[in-house]
Amino acid sequence: MIMHGEIKLLSGSQSHYLKNKIAKYLDMEPAKCEVSRFKDGEIRVQIKESIRGDDVFIIQSTQPPADNLMELLLLIDAAKRASASRVTAVIPYFGYARQDRKDQPRVPISAKLVANLIQTAGADRVITLDLHADQIQGFFDIPVDNLYASPIFKKYFTEFEPETHMIVAPDVGATKRARLMARHLGNLPLALVDKRRPAPNSAEVVNIIGDVSGMKLLIVDDIIDTGNTIAVAAQALIEAGAAEIRVAATHGLFSDGAKEKLDNAPIEEIVITNSLPVSEDKRPRCAIILDVAPLLGEAILRTHEERSVSALFI
Ligand code: R5P
Repeated sequence: MIMHGEIKLLSGSQSHYLKNKIAKYLDMEPAKCEVSRFKDGEIRVQIKESIRGDDVFIIQSTQPPADNLMELLLLIDAAKRASASRVTAVIPYFGYARQDRKDQPRVPISAKLVANLIQTAGADRVITLDLHADQIQGFFDIPVDNLYASPIFKKYFTEFEPETHMIVAPDVGATKRARLMARHLGNLPLALVDKRRPAPNSAEVVNIIGDVSGMKLLIVDDIIDTGNTIAVAAQALIEAGAAEIRVAATHGLFSDGAKEKLDNAPIEEIVITNSLPVSEDKRPRCAIILDVAPLLGEAILRTHEERSVSALFI
């Protein structure tokens, strides 16, 4: 077994808060690192202490703008050139993941391109959280640990009973995620919203599969972006007789207009995580934020000690 040096935590500017929380969980100081700008706006990074022979973990979500991805790539390059023994890119929110196949003519497979960039920059491993599609792991030729936020949600939603509560997948793609949550919350029954996207950024409900009348529902998704998926699903479920609607989604992007849409939707509570920073003015009134730092910190520790990471989800 190759032995690596100490754990060293670095981050890009947008995941600084998460790095500090993870450092606190691991009872250590983050490594000294500066992310700044040249006069023309180009990004400049410098690691301010020796990481030679160390086990480096770079925490950075890659939501827009693309500067976040660029910071990650530059930090990986800097760490490799500073002779880190191993570099793990910890990407709580993996951006560009929704374009993961060529479903129309003349479109890129953006997730594959991003995987190539991260690998070419020199990452030895990747840790991520609720990756939009499992198959993206195969876009890398290095180990990828895809963590699930469901154990964190499980600690929050403690009062669910199979007689009164149901899990809802807001589209077919979310079925596996919803099943996992249903199992974690006590083998709850499952319903499915048959959602279609007539165009990017829009959503319409065609059908609801399962009897939701009188039930308290938890809609489970990985991402909330425009809020369309959740808002139209919530409306259709209420019209189908649901008693109450709550939402659990790992990554709250809340792009422009999402807050208003979700504030006006028949939703009691939207529970997200701090996988990426969400400013107060962007998040819906009923949003609750759960902390992923202990889960990421534990995954980092286990990776460093060459212990099982999948054991975290059982
Ligand atoms: C789609 O496949 C994803 O799982 C989410 O449902 C989607 O990205 C949410 O986007 P929006 O909030 O814009 O409907």
